[in-house]
Amino acid sequence: MKVLSGIQPTGRPHWGNYFGAIRQYIDLQTEDQAFYFIANLHALTTIRNGQELKQNSRDTAMDLLALGLDPNHAVLFIQSDVPEISELCWILMSGASMGLLERCVSYKDKVSKGLTPVTGLFTYPVLQAADILAYDSDTVPVGEDQTQHIEVCRDIAKSFNSAYQEEVFVLPKAKVLDSSAKVPGTDGDKMSKSYGNFIEVFEPVKSMRKKVMRIATDSRPMEEPKDPAGDHLYQLFSLFADDAACQEMAGLYRRGGFGYGEVKKALADAADVYFCEAREKRAELEADPDRVIQILGDGAAVARRKAAEVLDRAQQACGLK
Ligand code: ADP
Ligand code: TRP
Repeated sequence: MKVLSGIQPTGRPHWGNYFGAIRQYIDLQTEDQAFYFIANLHALTTIRNGQELKQNSRDTAMDLLALGLDPNHAVLFIQSDVPEISELCWILMSGASMGLLERCVSYKDKVSKGLTPVTGLFTYPVLQAADILAYDSDTVPVGEDQTQHIEVCRDIAKSFNSAYQEEVFVLPKAKVLDSSAKVPGTDGDKMSKSYGNFIEVFEPVKSMRKKVMRIATDSRPMEEPKDPAGDHLYQLFSLFADDAACQEMAGLYRRGGFGYGEVKKALADAADVYFCEAREKRAELEADPDRVIQILGDGAAVARRKAAEVLDRAQQACGLK
């Protein structure tokens, strides 16, 4: 499998992003080939402050590395370090139908959430197609909301191959991330940056503990037995604890006679231990920025070689060379 995915550098990861996406990317890094990149060209439509975008891009790279993305297995790079992508994007844009882009829900969604309706936001699925096609990727792990863009990418690739009667592009498939465990936020609803109910992976432990202690709970009496299955506090605990600890906690719920404060303390302890190694690794990377620059530079060199080869194929086919 040739795996590729892009991560927008739009903020620090929260527990939902980790369990719902990042951990799954990392699990796929031992496939034949895994390319992961920081999608800074995509973020240009939302972050209009150069310093902020640069810092966010570095932070996102360090977060991924600290959480286990291993440059010996996966190629990690910054999207704009591969200028071939922008060139390929224009070639694809020249054949991508307006109707195809008009059917994409993400543009309307983003504009309805208050983002400025700029051209880059509308044509963003074409840039995403260039990202995918430039590396002959066949498997694209993405959240459910991104599957439409993979279909758009396939349509663009098919129409190019058929127009120039050559198999220039490999048709990719989406690998939908397992979202069965939607991570609940501190209010019990889905954890999300936009709801202000999130806890960051690299949040200082003291502040993480405070947020955990403030997680909303119901007001049933302590002695009442409770079903752990539908309880968001238990759901959070089970993300961090091993099977034996989960069973013990589930037993406590079923018996009753406990306070939610006890569960919160156990959750905070488990989350602290779970991310302890990543926090240490993050601090090491932070203290050694040259190492991060080196990893990203090496990754970009590998990615560029591949992208140049695919771009050349496309240029030959459409008469630019
Ligand atoms: P947010 O809702 O915080 O803006 P994003 O839309 O940036 O999160 O999500 C990035 C990735 O993280 C997506 O693949 C999404 O499926 C995953 N993700 C985000 N929040 C959760 C959650 N609460 N539970 C599981 N996965 C999540
Ligand atoms: N559009 C994706 C998102 O917003 C990020 C992304 C950019 C991406 N290029 C990609 C994902 C290519 C998969 C493949 O989350």
